[in-house]
Amino acid sequence: MADKGKQVTWGGRFKDGPDGLMLAFGESVSFDQRLAPYDLQGSLGHAAMLLAVGILTQEEFNQIEKGLQELAEEVKAGTFMWKIELEDVHMNLEQALREKTGAADKLHTGRSRNDQVATDVRLFFKDACSQLREGIEQAMKALLALAQKHASTPIPGYTHLQRAQPVTVGHHLLAYVEMLGRDHERFSTVANHANVCPLGSGAIAGSTLPLDRALVAKALGFVDESGEPRLTPNGMDAVADRDLFVEFASACSLCALHLSRLAEDLILWNSAEFGYLILPDSFTTGSSLMPQKKNPDCFELIRGKTGRMIGNLTNLLVTIKGLPLTYNRDLQEDKPPVFDSFDQLGICLAVTAGALEGAQINEETCRAAASDPLLLATDLADYLVEQGMPFRQAHHVVGALVARAEELNLSLPELSDEDAQSVSPQLGSDWREVFDLSRAFSRREKPGMPGPQQVAGRIKFWEGILNS
Ligand code: ARG
Repeated sequence: MADKGKQVTWGGRFKDGPDGLMLAFGESVSFDQRLAPYDLQGSLGHAAMLLAVGILTQEEFNQIEKGLQELAEEVKAGTFMWKIELEDVHMNLEQALREKTGAADKLHTGRSRNDQVATDVRLFFKDACSQLREGIEQAMKALLALAQKHASTPIPGYTHLQRAQPVTVGHHLLAYVEMLGRDHERFSTVANHANVCPLGSGAIAGSTLPLDRALVAKALGFVDESGEPRLTPNGMDAVADRDLFVEFASACSLCALHLSRLAEDLILWNSAEFGYLILPDSFTTGSSLMPQKKNPDCFELIRGKTGRMIGNLTNLLVTIKGLPLTYNRDLQEDKPPVFDSFDQLGICLAVTAGALEGAQINEETCRAAASDPLLLATDLADYLVEQGMPFRQAHHVVGALVARAEELNLSLPELSDEDAQSVSPQLGSDWREVFDLSRAFSRREKPGMPGPQQVAGRIKFWEGILNS
């Protein structure tokens, strides 16, 4: 191993070391070094198993354990010297351990970088999912606080970006709380899928040595609710499988997509044309030229970064799709997209929470917009249904009333009783009562509707979950 330039871990069968260009091209340590804490943890679990099956002596294990702990501290403190000639995080850490103890030469017994990296990323995914779930909770709390404050502030609900029916700010924002609630659940599903131990798969076909897979799985926390170890059932699948990368990147994309749609709503609400929302100075930016500008960049960036996260998912799908079993070096490219999605989604969630915390709803503008009587045209059709008219006919009658009001340049309730009754005699003297917003809401007290009690109930439900 003394030969100059030869690769210290796998260089045995080589005459020459890798070309400088190949080193620079093939290294992954510049990005996979962030797996270091998981790699050290995985090595400790593996070493504990090697001790239990008699491959390491207690003394060797103690030295390895001490060395791994020291390395964890160096990595944490940022004093660890990463070397690109050692390719990746695994070989960097193994060689650094070797400088501390000769016992390090036994650490890679019955292990390959293939099952090692598969283990590292599973530990990473479990951690990343739990961090993102916390981020989602923060965003949900911010949405919930605003929804609570404006539970009964009416605004128009839109379809085709045209005013459709009245809802409340609370109801509208709760729609996003529901979406993020599903994301929260999705990340626990991904974490659950990650919770299976691949160690012991070796390169593809395990090992002839008496490895105890259950022991190492338990040591690393890959266990079910009753503490039973969860092991990957096929070594070839275990080292080739990148489902989790796709699932994780997909869960990130979907959550980002929800934030992006929220962002789009809020950008619209913040525009002078809508005027429903005032964003805090702290999450907006100005123009270098136009002194009056206050731009909703925080939400535009969320929309933009969502494209990037969807790109990361696509990147992974395309990288994996043509690969034969099992590990191929292409798979080294699997990490940057998931790290990026993790980082970007984390900051998008934090920014969503921060911007919403400082945001204010312009109640007056909301109310004024929601007082458009046309929003209750469907309620008028329902009124006719209650008089016994088939809905399709009622729809036509109200359509004709809308046209008549337009013709006379009047709002719907300004039509005279004669005008209304000439369209349908079933419009009694009380037909204008439908134009009362509180009537409209109080009649919508079935699950999923914007009735005040429904909205309050959903707020309570989510508060209960988020504060537990
Ligand atoms: N740096 C490699 C990766 O991330 C580790 C696994 C390498 N395995 C191998 N057989 N070359 O994919």
